[in-house]
Amino acid sequence: MKTVVVTGGAGFIGGNFVYHMLEKHPDYKIVCIDCLTYAGNLSTLNTALKNPSFKFCKANICDRGSIYGIFEAERPDIVINFAAESHVDRSIEDPEVFLRTNILGTQVIMDACLKYGASRFHQVSTDEVYGDLPLDRPDLRFTEETPIRTSSPYSASKAAADLLALAYHRTYGLPATISRCGNNYGPYHFPEKLIPLMITNALNDKPLPVYRQGLNVRDWIYVRDHCEAIDLIIHKGRTGEVYNIGGGNEMQNIDIVRRICRELGKPESLISFVTDRKGHDLRYAIDSSKLRKELGWTPRTEFEDGLHRTVRWYLENREWLEGIISGEYLSYCERMYGNR
Ligand code: NAD
Ligand code: TYD
Repeated sequence: MKTVVVTGGAGFIGGNFVYHMLEKHPDYKIVCIDCLTYAGNLSTLNTALKNPSFKFCKANICDRGSIYGIFEAERPDIVINFAAESHVDRSIEDPEVFLRTNILGTQVIMDACLKYGASRFHQVSTDEVYGDLPLDRPDLRFTEETPIRTSSPYSASKAAADLLALAYHRTYGLPATISRCGNNYGPYHFPEKLIPLMITNALNDKPLPVYRQGLNVRDWIYVRDHCEAIDLIIHKGRTGEVYNIGGGNEMQNIDIVRRICRELGKPESLISFVTDRKGHDLRYAIDSSKLRKELGWTPRTEFEDGLHRTVRWYLENREWLEGIISGEYLSYCERMYGNR
């Protein structure tokens, strides 16, 4: 019987991870800490909330008093930090909350791990800390040795947290691991990121805003494959180590948007090419051979199948989606795309 704290569990990947853990480790107690920002939805955890092994605590990871109170009561063995501001476009609009949550919030969680003796702290990071790769060098991939070279306030804040976690490991002996994953897709994804935004807009016959010509490349992974990798790392990974996680599935944005149109039977005339994102990273590609060799991980989901399942999920979970398309989301869409 272990107690596992999952911060950010009402968000996209954290929510999927909660379900993964409840299924794979029914003897564990899973405690979710989330302050429910615009990106956190308690409805994502509706099924988990009926499970006696699951507990939800509403708290901000920057609030030291609340976090220490939860750790004092729960004494977690393993802590996985998903909580973050996660959207690049929002970080370009207003970086401050990214620095607060992603850096200072991570520090509070790590201090709590030290104070209450957690045997593992895991930081969920991103391949974006490596910056980008050129479009014309398909031979290049990010390894764990690739220098940190961030482009956006989001990636800079995640890189700062990674460096802080490694410093806590070396200086205070925090038993920390870090994973850097590529772009996730799947159920419960907030419709501001590429795939869920395009599905949501296409469902409503609204324009599909593709930045520039849609030639930028991302390396996509089905969210449950990411969750399996984290599960392996927290149990078998070596502390002080970074593990890259990638689906080995590079695609141009425009190709993805066309596939979504086909899946939904919508015309490609909905596609609208809009002004580029500032500082837009060209290409991400991840070398995850360390994780594959050391821990035997391999992604299971083919993109074709994962995208089909994701589109079906949005079709079958309109209530979840409609709960999200509220005031804050609508004003964000107006700010971001109204005049682009
Ligand atoms: P998300 O935005 O969907 O969810 C973030 C969750 O954190 C939300 O539930 C939100 O309420 C919560 N949160 C935010 N600030 C908080 C705070 N101060 N205190 C407590 N809770 C807070 O994000 P996601 O896409 O699920 O990403 C989860 C993690 O994975 C992030 O750390 C992100 O950097 C990382 N990551 C994401 C991707 C991706 O493709 N989405 C890829 C690699 C890494
Ligand atoms: P996003 O899902 O925001 O993830 P990230 O920027 O963290 O990789 O964007 C994925 C790609 O899709 C990225 O190249 C930007 C592009 N994009 C669009 O073309 N239009 C959009 O409306 C959004 C949100 C993203």
